[in-house]
Amino acid sequence: MIRAVMERFSGRSRSATPPRTGELLSGGSRVESGPDASRGVILYLEDITVSFDGFRALNALTLYIEVGELRCIIGPNGAGKTTMMDVITGKTRPDTGSAWFGQTIDLLALTEPEIAQAGIGRKFQKPTVFERHSVFENLELAMAGDKSVWRWLFARTTAAEREQIDAVLETVGLQDRREEPAGALSHGQKQWLEIGMLLVQEPQLLLVDEPVAGMTPQETERTAELLGSLAGRHSVIVVEHDMEFVRSIARKVTVLHEGSVLAEGSIDEVQNDPRVIEVYLGV
Ligand SMILES: Nc1ncnc2c1ncn2[C@@H]1O[C@H](COP(=O)(O)OP(=O)(O)OP(=O)(O)O)[C@@H](O)[C@H]1O
Ligand SMILES: [Mg+2]
Repeated sequence: MIRAVMERFSGRSRSATPPRTGELLSGGSRVESGPDASRGVILYLEDITVSFDGFRALNALTLYIEVGELRCIIGPNGAGKTTMMDVITGKTRPDTGSAWFGQTIDLLALTEPEIAQAGIGRKFQKPTVFERHSVFENLELAMAGDKSVWRWLFARTTAAEREQIDAVLETVGLQDRREEPAGALSHGQKQWLEIGMLLVQEPQLLLVDEPVAGMTPQETERTAELLGSLAGRHSVIVVEHDMEFVRSIARKVTVLHEGSVLAEGSIDEVQNDPRVIEVYLGV
């Protein structure tokens, strides 16, 4: 169990005071303080190229995300959407290009856990909650992070932390399921719990890959509301194929194709763009 917890939360651990630039944390990881987004941009991707055996999954990709923005990324299968998230989170190293979190954090110089710790949270498609633990305990564990697992096991969560967890439960709409085992939740509710598990770590940038796959129409609608409510407080990048869902939440949409940006604008602008129509319909 402990090992599973540690592996699950190899991401960001909470601390009341952010570490100073260049400070060495236990384990020797170097973590910057939070991102400097004073120019209004939280993420800069410039000229990113990723090749797999000569095939360019990303091809000189350039993309900027503003602070508090909710951005939808769409594009046909194989366009490079997931690879882009892999680059942002340090899972895949690009061959060329640069990736900055705010103006001072060079993502290409950090490891995956360091990037998570700097404030980038990623939600994968398959929910990975602890089924036998309650909804509340899942959030407690997520809040503790890997470096505080021992503390979580042997100490109580403080009143302030419980308040924060309750606020997140309300945000994700699971306050009534607080004491139930996570295994008893529906697929959609597990997805929301996992979003909550990211939120307690207070990420500045959230990456969400295909959040509504497998959800009922009601769950899809609720997810749109949830992600919409996060914008402003967080910057959010959502990759999704469900165009109705994208229409219901999107402010700005980026269309990826063959590893580059094909079009960018409102959902109506991109859906009426002849290049986008050609890529999707082959006409
Ligand atoms: N580790 C890898 N090794 C080899 N090729 C890869 C690897 N990861 C991705 N690719 C290839 O890179 C291209 C982009 O894949 P990616 O998963 O980023 O696309 P996507 O836009 O997320 O597609 P989907 O909508 O199907 O999820 C695809 O052609 C894929 O087969
Ligand atoms: Mg993908």
